Amino acid sequence: MNKEQKIPVHVAIIMDGNGRWAKKRALPRTAGHAQGARTVEQILEDADHMGIRYLTVYAFSTENWSRPDSEVKALMNLLRTYMKTSLQKCARNNVRIRVIGDKSKLDKDLQIAIADLERDTASNTGIGFQIAINYGARDELARSVRSIAQKIRSGELDPEAVTEEMISDTLDTAGIPDPDLLIRTGGEQRISNFLLWQTAYSELYFCDVAWPDFNRKELEKAVDAYNHRERRYGGLMQ
Ligand code: IPE
Ligand code: IPE
Ligand code: MG
Repeated sequence: MNKEQKIPVHVAIIMDGNGRWAKKRALPRTAGHAQGARTVEQILEDADHMGIRYLTVYAFSTENWSRPDSEVKALMNLLRTYMKTSLQKCARNNVRIRVIGDKSKLDKDLQIAIADLERDTASNTGIGFQIAINYGARDELARSVRSIAQKIRSGELDPEAVTEEMISDTLDTAGIPDPDLLIRTGGEQRISNFLLWQTAYSELYFCDVAWPDFNRKELEKAVDAYNHRERRYGGLMQ
């Protein structure tokens, strides 16, 4: 990778294509998810080495509950194992972990594991790693509106005083800069209810590689493409 390149501060990834990756190899879909979990571990390390400061990955959407029970169970078990092994390692490697999404719907033991990891890594100063579990951007916005509405009802807040910053601060990503680059693997070109508010001005990058096959080279290609984009934020060319 060219040394002169601008490294995006925050990269968000829709990790898609696990099932198709497995199907192509005549393996069960869950084998694709297991391989995908290994990819996450490697990409987090690569992103850190490349100087990316925040990495957010979409692991399980609010819509993914509609998959067969056996697949949901397998995904939750994978997350459980991931919390115990890989993420414990992150904690030692100065990674700051945050889970975004509605955690209240997850099994109690998973909620405890998440709370422990978030607490144990809160003062780490390395890459910020956000994992979206039971995350849906519409659900996140609905929760934000509810919390603002409560403040208005209690008289603590005037409706006229609601600002964009206030909305950002009530989202699960509060305090984290908006993604500069959003990558979706697996060939589909859609957002699937991910970070709708935060990606207002993110550069979008779609690649055909299935998530289990994604690697540092592919991440570098995405960063390279990002470097060829001109971000205008509604203004004029410089
Ligand atoms: C992404 O891979 C992982 C999750 C959504 C949990 P998929 O499971 O969606 O894989 P495809 O899209 O069916 O190939
Ligand atoms: C998006 O992938 C969700 C995650 C990667 C966790 P999906 O496979 O669920 O999205 P759709 O169904 O193709 O839109
Ligand atoms: Mg998919």
